[in-house]
Amino acid sequence: MSSAPENNGRRRFLTLATAVVGGVGTVGVAVPFIKSWNPSEKAKAAGAPVEYDVSKMAPGQLVRVQWRGKPVYVVRRTKEVLAELENGHNDQLKDPTSTEPQQPEFAANPHRSLKPEYLVALGVCTHLGCAPTYRANDFNEIVEGVANGFYCPCHGSKFDMAGRVFQNVPAPTNLVIPPYMFTASGSLLIGVDKGDA
Ligand code: FES
Repeated sequence: MSSAPENNGRRRFLTLATAVVGGVGTVGVAVPFIKSWNPSEKAKAAGAPVEYDVSKMAPGQLVRVQWRGKPVYVVRRTKEVLAELENGHNDQLKDPTSTEPQQPEFAANPHRSLKPEYLVALGVCTHLGCAPTYRANDFNEIVEGVANGFYCPCHGSKFDMAGRVFQNVPAPTNLVIPPYMFTASGSLLIGVDKGDA
């Protein structure tokens, strides 16, 4: 796959994005920054929550939001993706039932999320920290029979659309799910555990 240069570009993009709360992009397409609730730099450094309105996300879209200096991948999962998670490839995964402490309690479920429709996960490979590439509809070039997932170009780790790591790759664990909740208006608030609300 030839995604390494693209990935380097994305990392540079993310570095530049540290001055704002949120960055947004879809696969292979540069998209302008989003407007988002923007706490002070000091508050952000201390880990202030970051809000993002998911209501305008298209099915299948991935958005990158900066939180505590790290990229958080937010994906609006399609019905096809949800069916793919339900119909299962659990026998190919290292930790299909999320036994490792890689997520808040509320996300220890098959979707690893609060709402099945939205994946919210750190876009940081659990091997050595590269940014996995979102492969929408062509992941089966990498894992036969699974159409959507994430591929880490650094050393070949693979994750499904719940951020669960496949077997026989260097990444030891599933992608980390950060604490988050949805506000009364439906916005995503990253950095606040649902249990704290
Ligand atoms: S950093 Fe992702 S596979 Fe090594």
